[in-house]
Amino acid sequence: VIEVTVELNERPYPVLVGSGARFGLADVISSSAQRAVLVTQPDLRRCDWFADIDPKIAFDVIEIPEGEAAKNLATVEALVRRFVQVGLGRHDVVVAVGGGIVTDVAGFAAASYHRGTPYVNVATTLLGQVDAAIGGKTGVNLPEGKNLVGAFWQPDAVLCDIDTLETLSDREWACGRGEIAKYAFLVGSTPELSLLDLSITEQVARCAAIKAEVVAADEREGDRRMILNYGHTLAHAIEAAAFPDDTSQARWDIRHGEAVAIGLMFAAQLARRLGRIDDDRVALHRGVVEKLGLNGELPADADAQELLTYMTRDKKAHHDLTFVLDGSDGVQVVRGIDPADVLATLADMEDRS
Ligand SMILES: NC(=O)c1ccc[n+]([C@@H]2O[C@H](COP(=O)([O-])OP(=O)(O)OC[C@H]3O[C@@H](n4cnc5c(N)ncnc54)[C@H](O)[C@@H]3O)[C@@H](O)[C@H]2O)c1
Repeated sequence: VIEVTVELNERPYPVLVGSGARFGLADVISSSAQRAVLVTQPDLRRCDWFADIDPKIAFDVIEIPEGEAAKNLATVEALVRRFVQVGLGRHDVVVAVGGGIVTDVAGFAAASYHRGTPYVNVATTLLGQVDAAIGGKTGVNLPEGKNLVGAFWQPDAVLCDIDTLETLSDREWACGRGEIAKYAFLVGSTPELSLLDLSITEQVARCAAIKAEVVAADEREGDRRMILNYGHTLAHAIEAAAFPDDTSQARWDIRHGEAVAIGLMFAAQLARRLGRIDDDRVALHRGVVEKLGLNGELPADADAQELLTYMTRDKKAHHDLTFVLDGSDGVQVVRGIDPADVLATLADMEDRS
């Protein structure tokens, strides 16, 4: 098991990555905890590895429903009420066992319960292990938008057991690889292509280390932490456009990590248009996306103007168009992008596809 530390001044915490990391749960729980709740989803409870998740103190298992639609305040309310009913105290511990939905919801419930109760993340999706479970951003969606209510609340530890990924669907693997593609561009001025050739344990550990370093440098999301959103401005717009107003029918079947891969290709081509990088660097982006088995093409019927509207609404944009873009010094936050350049880049992508 590889240990990565998130070096936060007041309270550093470990991210443990590897086969069997789940068996270390009891060791990372504070000795002041006398009771635990394991928050998870019904399907995960049925996986063989679930039985090994043992906090070695009295515990209850609480299920939350599956999917983004359950990542809401009603689920948090149901959860914290169950915490009261099972007698969870403020020195006890919440253990989130699942992907980003579970860690976001359980983390936010822990942040609010008694104004802050310790929690540990057992991340069971690739996306959770390389991204969502690390860094202390917790929260839920509102009908008006994603992740609009939340808190910064750091876990006591994150366990990334590679064995739990054996039950993950191909689609969810691809989703996690979209985030891994992003990490290849986040450090230094040249892409870290060696990341792609590592074993899965080393790959997760390397991504966790990059995220840990960025979070330690900027816990509350100034410009440094914003680089973690590389590829995400267009990705969020695609996800929003996939679910046009009040229809439950998705226009496109695109998962988050798949949208990030498209967002990375878009960001590279926008940076090229703005003269920040050259064609070779765009080709490197394409190479990384393709090597990870992802498709960086826009959906065929995407409407550039509609995507632009969603991007203008992005909460990272302070009323102007802000992107994380590659350049000679590596990726940076760039504000005040001309909408015409965005539309032209989207048009180029449409011509390609
Ligand atoms: N807090 C953050 O910093 C952060 C960062 C990135 C994403 N997120 C959030 O994470 C969420 C997405 O997370 P996700 O992609 O992990 O989705 P998810 O939690 O919905 O998991 C995807 C699916 O995989 C299933 N699953 C989980 N682990 C499994 C396993 N080991 N075997 C079989 N099936 C398993 C889940 O039940 C679910 O059906 C989004 O809501 C996003 O906003 C948060």
